[in-house]
Amino acid sequence: MKMNNLKVVIAGGGSTYTPGIVQAMINSRDKFNFTSITLYDIDEIRNDDMYQIIDYMLKKEALEKKVTLSQTTDPKLAFIKSDFIFSQIRVGGMEMREIDEKIPLSHGLVGQETCGLGGFSYGLRSIKGLLEIVSYVDQYAPDAWLLNYTNPETLVSEAVRRAFPHVKMLNACDMTISIEETVAINYGYDRKNWIPTYYGLNHFGWYTSIYDKSLDRDVMPEIIEKLNADGLQVADFNSGDKTWQEAWDMLCVMTKNFPDFLPNNYLEYYLYSNEVVEKSNPKYTRANMVMDGREKRTKEMSRKIREKVDGDILDFNFGEHGQYIVDMAVSILNDKHDRFMLIVPNMGAIPNLRSDAMVEIPAYVGRTGAEPISLRFEINDFHKGLMEAQNAAEKLLVDAYFENSYQKALQAFTLNQTVPSAKVAKVVLDELIEANGDFWPELN
Ligand code: NAD
Ligand code: G6P
Ligand code: MN
Repeated sequence: MKMNNLKVVIAGGGSTYTPGIVQAMINSRDKFNFTSITLYDIDEIRNDDMYQIIDYMLKKEALEKKVTLSQTTDPKLAFIKSDFIFSQIRVGGMEMREIDEKIPLSHGLVGQETCGLGGFSYGLRSIKGLLEIVSYVDQYAPDAWLLNYTNPETLVSEAVRRAFPHVKMLNACDMTISIEETVAINYGYDRKNWIPTYYGLNHFGWYTSIYDKSLDRDVMPEIIEKLNADGLQVADFNSGDKTWQEAWDMLCVMTKNFPDFLPNNYLEYYLYSNEVVEKSNPKYTRANMVMDGREKRTKEMSRKIREKVDGDILDFNFGEHGQYIVDMAVSILNDKHDRFMLIVPNMGAIPNLRSDAMVEIPAYVGRTGAEPISLRFEINDFHKGLMEAQNAAEKLLVDAYFENSYQKALQAFTLNQTVPSAKVAKVVLDELIEANGDFWPELN
């Protein structure tokens, strides 16, 4: 494998997360020697805005002569000779996310980016877009590593597992690392000392232990006690974000009621659907907040750079998100076998769950990719029941995609645990078919 002069492609170059990823690449350049960054996007304007920002960042770090920056909407130009691809596309953009959130909500159901029926709506769009990216990688850079953040992770990784099982791809989510970092900051731990054990589907899982090397004990029970006594405050990388504070508050509701395991905060959408809907504003959802916040700030950065405004121009959250994916690339390249939470085919890792489920579990990452751990214990009936229903719903939805099956889509929608009846499942499905138009496969 090439160790130096790496060509890195960011698919979804115009994403608001691109500056954070590039910042992490810059910070890790001694271990990740890239000399080329290509921004690939289907939206030329967003891609060019990002080009201005990344160009500015490289100049600020005096890297403009060492790193070639390019932008393109041509997949061949983008992917050819690439070594690493970081994928973070959002098919349909924030406008379609808004629809995913608002249609279910208008029927009293959870309206969320990746969970519930909003997540299923996004899934049917995203599979199409991501399979396209994977096919380009397969065609133009079959030896490259594709590190994927594109959501909804379980659905897209299930689809890729079926269509391109041989592609060198890792699917990761930043949520576990964000939970860990937030907990560690709140209670004065150093997450770097942790060896967490966790299992689930993406945005649908539980920690079973968090062994702290410096303290030589499992700190999960005391963390749950602290959560229940003191609550959890939003950490600096999400500071001022009301949605995240609400998510941490709900995490504490879950640990109070189910104190044996530390859950992924996203379980609130399945376990407390009613409360979530009651708190939601059907006219102003998370998509609106992101459009009015992160998206505007990104646009503003590019405007200031174009107009050569003086002063502090860079304005983005540099949290764990970018570092996590770059650390994965570093671990592959240097065969480090660092431990990451990844979405992988189960294949016995959770012994009492179907082997072809895409599960999120710890995995060691080296030159040959992911080596997931085997849990070596059976999961309890509560988690198993929840996961099996969710997994079956997700499998049905991916079937619906490949088979163009309306019936399978309706079954998936009905089985989704945020949905109380087949009647409302059908109404929402039919509205989403209309709203998604050509973004979705035809369902007959
Ligand atoms: P965004 O809308 O700001 O950026 C996405 C970019 O993708 C846009 O510039 C868009 O033009 C581009 N795009 C859309 N379809 C494309 C296609 N077919 N080919 C190439 N480019 C395409 O979105 P964002 O908020 O920055 O999020 C980006 C993605 O990352 C989303 O899928 C989001 O859910 C995901 N995400 C995942 C995690 C995780 O934990 N896995 C964390 C954060 C964000
Ligand atoms: C976390 C999750 C991602 C999700 C994101 C949404 O990072 O792990 O999967 O996409 O939150 O954040 P947003 O600010 O776009 O609502
Ligand atoms: Mn995620």
